[in-house]
Amino acid sequence: MLSSILYSAALLSLANAHGVILAAQGEAGSPPSVGFQVDTAIARNCTGISPCQQDTTIIRDAEISANIVNECGRTELTGNIDVGENTENALAAGAVTKVKAGTLMTVTIHQVNADGAGPYTCDLDQTSNAGIISQNLTVTNNVPGVNGLSQGKTQDFNITVAMPSNLACTGASTGNICTVRCRNNAVAGPFGGCFAVQQTDITPTANSANQIATAQTLADVTEQIAENNVDLPVAIAANQQQGTAAQIQANEAVKALLGVTVTSKAAAVQTLAVENVGVNAAGASVATSSATSKASKAAKGAGKATAATASTPTATAAAKKGKNNNKRESGLKWAKRALLEESL
Ligand SMILES: *[C@@H]1O[C@H](CO)[C@@H](O)[C@H](O)[C@H]1NC(C)=O
Ligand SMILES: *[C@@H]1O[C@H](CO)[C@@H](O)[C@H](O)[C@H]1NC(C)=O
Ligand SMILES: *[C@@H]1O[C@H](CO)[C@@H](O)[C@H](O)[C@H]1NC(C)=O
Repeated sequence: MLSSILYSAALLSLANAHGVILAAQGEAGSPPSVGFQVDTAIARNCTGISPCQQDTTIIRDAEISANIVNECGRTELTGNIDVGENTENALAAGAVTKVKAGTLMTVTIHQVNADGAGPYTCDLDQTSNAGIISQNLTVTNNVPGVNGLSQGKTQDFNITVAMPSNLACTGASTGNICTVRCRNNAVAGPFGGCFAVQQTDITPTANSANQIATAQTLADVTEQIAENNVDLPVAIAANQQQGTAAQIQANEAVKALLGVTVTSKAAAVQTLAVENVGVNAAGASVATSSATSKASKAAKGAGKATAATASTPTATAAAKKGKNNNKRESGLKWAKRALLEESL
């Protein structure tokens, strides 16, 4: 399945070309977002598969349901696009556009060749990365074309994408990110891409496991396990190939040529609330109410500070307390946490 889909995709893409999301501008004054895995170093003045199509995104529902890619598809050069990783990289680089309910975004699409034409449709995962498309979006001023085809090439178009009035972005480390996905309806594609937007007129969400929705059914999960078992040998072989000296060298050469850079930023270390109900409720509430001591005291067995931090589990509070966890002290921190939990 995996090899046959990839094989036919490769054949099709040899004869066709695509569209790329170069920029998405939300509220004026905020930075533009860029399509995930779009490489600013790739030339836009040619139509050939290499280099000018290498960072266009193919988002095909059949590949998504076969678990070959996620909802944002893949590029020719880097394969499956990891939504979480691309979103956090964009946040760290300060390259996520800001939106509100009702914002009219200007999305710049580069049409590489014939089948990067319009019309494009856009939709939204309001969790950023659950793979559940929560809304279809209104697109006006579309790229000219029918069935994703026109005679346009090497040209940029601005389309207008409206954020819905009930926008409610909850995703990413900031708790207020949506993933917007735009793609055309070319049979060799669909081509398009995804990008993150940050909602400013909403209270950021703190996630817990019991709020995470799923679109999966038992039948889907079972089917996916069967498919994954078929695909695994191919995937292992591909992974081994990535590790050969020749391939490592090729990857380094490409990296040197291209412009995808990742900004690194330390993530906050949070200490989450320990919620106890029923028979354990009393003990937990005592710990909460008397909680004033610092984490270091608690770590000695007082069992109070977890609840203290827990009552304000914001990134800022946690960042102050846990700032060293990005400097190789993680083992110690975990030990402290285990101690706390035992002592409660
Ligand atoms: C195409 O663009 C690249 C850089 O983006 C440039 O080096 C090259 O000369 C251009 N080719 C043509 C035919 O304009
Ligand atoms: C979006 O539109 C498609 C048809 O193009 C439809 O199948 C899907 O259910 C719609 N999604 C939502 C969330 O309404
Ligand atoms: C698209 O809009 C941007 C402003 O957001 C502008 O700078 C650019 O020239 C426009 N491009 C086209 C092709 O209209």
